[in-house]
Amino acid sequence: MKHINYSNIISETIHSSAKVRGTGIALRTPQYIQKKIKNNDAVIAIEKNEFAGFCYIEVWGHGKYVAHSGLIVSPKFRGNGLAKKIKTLTFNHSKIKYPDAKIFGITTGLAVMKINYELGYKPVTFSELTDDKEFWKGCKTCKNYDVLNRTKREMCLCTGMLYNSKSNK
Ligand SMILES: CC(C)(COP(=O)(O)OP(=O)(O)OC[C@H]1O[C@@H](n2cnc3c(N)ncnc32)[C@H](O)[C@@H]1OP(=O)(O)O)[C@@H](O)C(=O)NCCC(=O)NCCS
Repeated sequence: MKHINYSNIISETIHSSAKVRGTGIALRTPQYIQKKIKNNDAVIAIEKNEFAGFCYIEVWGHGKYVAHSGLIVSPKFRGNGLAKKIKTLTFNHSKIKYPDAKIFGITTGLAVMKINYELGYKPVTFSELTDDKEFWKGCKTCKNYDVLNRTKREMCLCTGMLYNSKSNK
């Protein structure tokens, strides 16, 4: 719970990274991040009281799917395997907390694709992902949202990746 104090810096780091990268990062308010931490749906990395990285879990389609979103590593801590550690912890935590859910993500990032692939995710079309409207609303703050809208949510610049615990056993 004490980690709630980090919500501003997490939100700011997501914003500034989105600006640098220019694409494919949904923005999140400090309030939204606080909710995730309170619900035990987040993994946060701290190094000597300094924010280092973050990722959170979202539940979609009445628990049929979960997604790991908002993966961010503070620039100073990049390139040392921290994103992989955070993602793996988030992945293992959600398999325990939501054992029946399929795990998915959408990303334009090579780092995330590599990590997901190693965890056992498979690339899929958006038709295999949740049709929960609330999930796709999260894309509204992405600068490519017009593409998603134009294709009626069939495709966009992100690659969909899915881990189905039933077929991966
Ligand atoms: C993407 C990000 C989370 C990576 O964090 P990181 O701690 O540096 O990543 P890791 O060191 O765990 O690297 C994981 C793998 O991705 C690769 N990788 C890391 N950054 C990369 C980059 N910018 N481009 C291509 N590959 C990258 C690593 O080489 C590693 O691959 P390997 O397993 O083959 O060695 C971080 O750069 C970041 O926060 N960026 C801004 C936000 C963002 O893009 N989030 C993802 C949204 S889709």
